[in-house]
Amino acid sequence: MKLKIWRQKNEEDKGRMVDYDISDVSPDMSFLEMLDVLNQDLIDKGEEPVAFDHDCREGICGTCSLYINGRAHGPQRKITACQLHMRSFKDGDTIYIEPWRAKSFPVVKDLIVDRSSFDRIQQAGGFISVNTSGNTQDANAIPIEKENADNAFDAATCIGCGACVAACKNSSAMLFVGAKVSQFSLLPQGRVEATDRVLNMVKQMDEEGFGNCTNTGACEIECPKGISLEYIARMNREYLSASLKG
Ligand code: SF4
Ligand code: FES
Repeated sequence: MKLKIWRQKNEEDKGRMVDYDISDVSPDMSFLEMLDVLNQDLIDKGEEPVAFDHDCREGICGTCSLYINGRAHGPQRKITACQLHMRSFKDGDTIYIEPWRAKSFPVVKDLIVDRSSFDRIQQAGGFISVNTSGNTQDANAIPIEKENADNAFDAATCIGCGACVAACKNSSAMLFVGAKVSQFSLLPQGRVEATDRVLNMVKQMDEEGFGNCTNTGACEIECPKGISLEYIARMNREYLSASLKG
């Protein structure tokens, strides 16, 4: 196979695509295992290995942020790059591999981007404040409507990977923030701070330089967890009512 990989020394470096040939790729290898093989070859030749982010390698942590042949997380829907297998490609294919491209996700090195902007949005309100004095009611003792519990759970499956931002022509983070706002606001424990949460998280999102949503829907298509655009609409309703209260 032929690989065309984005190489960039640091944030200031202009970066460029570099060509690599790779053989002996098993169809059962994951995409990251294929990159491991390439890196071992590069190390054996005394060259700098390609820097890429990964941790769990099973679709949970959201760190494997790769743009593969112009698609966030590659050609298959509802999986992360680490869950992509080489059987999705043909012998002799050329594969383009790039980092997420968004102003709010600066490239650290090669394929690694800095997504601490997401952390700061979470810190602005993506939590609940719980009294831990020992008298706290068991969360499981609070009845919650099945539909709300299911929707909150679906929103909570967002792994913060940033594919929604990378896929969006405006680099909007609305799908991520919509999921994070909704996972709390649908539950009684999260309602207490719902007003401040949505105002603070949206404010932080804007300060981080993410663009606006223009309802293109690329985020939903490329999201590995299938987070629905409905969560953006839910956040907009929350935001409007919080603004009127505020
Ligand atoms: S909404 Fe989807 S694409 Fe966006 S950060 Fe969450 S899991 Fe990733
Ligand atoms: S390495 Fe954790 S989701 Fe891919």
